[in-house]
Order: sequence, then C-alpha cells, then structure tokens
Amino acid sequence: MSHIRGRFKKKADKLVNEYTASIPFDWRLYPYDIAGSIAHARMLARQGIVPAKEAETIIKALSAIKEEIERGEFQFKTELEDIHMNIEARLIEKVGEVGGKLHTARSRNDQVAFAMRLFAKDAIANTLVVLAELQRALIALAEANKGVIIPGYTHLQPAQPLLLAHHLLAYFEMLQRDTTRFLDCLKRTDVMPLGSGALAGVAYKNIDRQFLAKELGFGQLSQNSLDAVSDRDFVLEYEAAASFCMMHLSRLAEEVILWSSAEFDFIELDEAYATGSSIMPQKKNPDVAELARGKAGRVYGNLMALLTTMKALPLAYNRDLQEDKEGFFDTVDCLLSTLEVFTGLVKTLKVNAESARRALERGYILATDLADYLVKKGEAFRTAHEIVAKLVSYAEKKGKPLLKLSLAEYQKFSPLFAQDVYSVTLESSIAARDVAGGTAPRRVEKALAAAKKTLGDSKSGS
Ligand code: ARG
Repeated sequence: MSHIRGRFKKKADKLVNEYTASIPFDWRLYPYDIAGSIAHARMLARQGIVPAKEAETIIKALSAIKEEIERGEFQFKTELEDIHMNIEARLIEKVGEVGGKLHTARSRNDQVAFAMRLFAKDAIANTLVVLAELQRALIALAEANKGVIIPGYTHLQPAQPLLLAHHLLAYFEMLQRDTTRFLDCLKRTDVMPLGSGALAGVAYKNIDRQFLAKELGFGQLSQNSLDAVSDRDFVLEYEAAASFCMMHLSRLAEEVILWSSAEFDFIELDEAYATGSSIMPQKKNPDVAELARGKAGRVYGNLMALLTTMKALPLAYNRDLQEDKEGFFDTVDCLLSTLEVFTGLVKTLKVNAESARRALERGYILATDLADYLVKKGEAFRTAHEIVAKLVSYAEKKGKPLLKLSLAEYQKFSPLFAQDVYSVTLESSIAARDVAGGTAPRRVEKALAAAKKTLGDSKSGS
C-alpha cells in the first residue's frame, strides 16, 4: 500500500521489509480481522459516517476476500507488513477508492488488539472443549478399570495401595483447575478495544462502540484507549494457564512413560499411539508422551519470552508488541494438539491389572496398615511404626512378603499381633481410607459421579 509510505521518497529496504513483516505468521488472524472490518463497516454506515451503499460494497468485497483466502488463491505480500494491510490493499484493489473508507475511525493498533482478542477467545473456547474431552477419557478409563489396585508412590518408592481410578481422578482435578483458569482468563479477554484508535481514541464521536461489541460478541468495552492498544495481558494469561496445563500433561506423560516400561508394565499403549525404533526391533516407544513432556518447556518459554518483551515498554503501542504472535500461536497449537493426542492415547491404552498386582506384592506396601492395626489394639503410633519397621527388615532378610510370616514370627515383634493380622489385605487397606477425598471404593465412586456432574455428563443431569 503505497499511501502509508506517503512521506518517504525511498522504498523500504528489502531486508527491512522482511525483518518487520508479520504476514508470514499473522495471516491466520484473517477471519478475525475480516469479522472486525465487516462490523466496523456496518457501524460506519449506521452512524452515517460512510454511505450505506459504499459500506455494502466494502462488506461484500471483504466476504469475497475471505473466500479467496480460504480457497488458497489470495496473494500474501511481504511488502504489506501484516494481514490487516494485506486485506485492506486487496479491498482497494477490488472496489477502488471506496475501500479506503474502511479505515475511517480506526487504527491498526486497535485493529490488531481486536483481532488478537477474538483469536484468543476462540482459542479459549477450543481449549475448554478439548480439556473436557481428555477429562472424559480419564473418567472412562477409571470406570473401565474400577477394581484395579496399583501401588501408590511417594519418592517413587511403593507407599500405599491405591485404586487406579483414584490416581486417574487426580488428573481430572488438575485439568479442572486448568479449566477454571481458562474461564477466568476469558473474562479479561472478552473486552472490545475498537474505538481506541492509534492511542487516544478516535475523533469521530458518533462511533458506536456498543454496537461493535454486540456485533462481535464481546461482553465489555475497554475503558482506556492507551491501555487498550498496548495491553497483552490476555495473551500472557492464556500462556500462563497453558503452562500450568502443559505441566499437568507433562506429569501425566511421565507416568505414561514409566508405566509402559517393562519394569512397571502397568499399561500398554495402543500400537496407533506408539512408535518403533529404527535399530532395536523390540521397541515400542512412548514418543507421544515424551514429546508432550518436551513441549511443556517450549510453552513455558513462550510465556517467559512475552513477559520479557512486555517488561518496561512505554505506553502505548510499540512494535515490540508484534512479538506476541508467534509464541502465542505456538502455545495454542502445542496445547490443543497435546490435549487431543492424549485423549486418544488414554482412550486406547490397556491396563495390565496382573502386573500391578505383582508390583504390589513386591513392596511392603501394607506396612502402614500393620502400624494402624497395632494402633487400633492400643499401641502408640510412633511405637507401632518402629515395630513394623523392624518387622519389615526381618521379612526382607527372610525374603518373604509380610503376610507370609507366621503368627509366631509376628508375635516376636509385638504381643498385640493376633490371627486377625491376616485380614489386613490390599482391599482392606483401600477400604480403610474412607475419608472425603480418600481412595476407598465408596469415595472413589462418589468422586467419579461428581466428576461427571462437573462435566455435565451425569445421567440425572442434576
Ligand atoms: N503488524 C503489527 C503487529 O502485529 C500490527 C500493528 C502495527 N501498527 C503499527 N503502527 N505499525 O503488532
């Protein structure tokens, strides 16, 4: 567009054009930019700023441009910096000087802030859908393996038995917190900046910002024009929420990797979600989970990059702000694809209950329960803890699991041990944790029902 270089005698250096252009990555804002321009043209006509007929011409051409882009026929030009100028130039090419009226009462500064907000609102909506899908897959896996008991770990050492369903529901909780973070960030994203102009507001006092907000589905109007064109908190908030979510997915990924190893063997990945090795024919690798774990770093990096870009920027718009885009798009792409692929991975993995059983037999996982047993017979917990510690080291020396010791052996450590010590089992251990938020089957059943209710999936619909 030659007019924006009106004051210059020289063309911009080719390297400068390439260095400053955002079109190679901001082209994907086109549907948002066009939606904003159509609403703006409608508003200009309603307010008598542009004749209705001309606005109609502009709107028709903008719709046609959108189709050109979607058909892959649109010629993106680097000389035109960004998607906003590419679309405007094409508009003028198609309809002539009338197209130049679209930019009345607006600036690229409020235009880009607007397009980014609309993109972000869409991204949040998509994120919420895929988050819920992964939560559903976790619930389905928990329900399909309701009775399965696994060793629970602390310090990655066998600690106490758990229902697999309880373990999976821990991830449901994390993802639910993520959901609330995205919903919260939506409140501050849902703010319409058009009318802020370059920085000071526009000089057409009859523009109708309310109409624009309504047309474009925004709940609020920005309250300060300077802030509106220079604020990217909404991008940062999405990136922060995405970082939390990727951290959660990375923890799940780590457990998928561990659990699918020959050493754990608690789960088997479906072939469609595993990869092979180019040299070791026996390998079935969890690359999907490893990449999810890896991408978490990239998503944190995008957050740190933009926080650093924003730091110490004077008001209002500065070109530094163009650096918000690549990281943001990358974060959205990483998060959505990771959530999607994990949903498939969780849906198709097989649980190996027998392996989990064998692992439960290896560790002295009922030690806490034996201490609790002695406490119920009157021993002080600390003393009971010490007695069972000695018992464990004795059993270890004998190479026996606790429940294979004879009653006489038990009684060498405490006279309180009686025949009923053999009723301490994995099942009794789990059933005993009958507290709100505990792993007792009754509690887990309730937690599953609550989780479905949260997603709006419970049968009663209540
Ligand atoms: N390409 C710019 C960006 O992405 C659009 C806004 C440019 N405004 C300006 N005054 N150069 O941030």
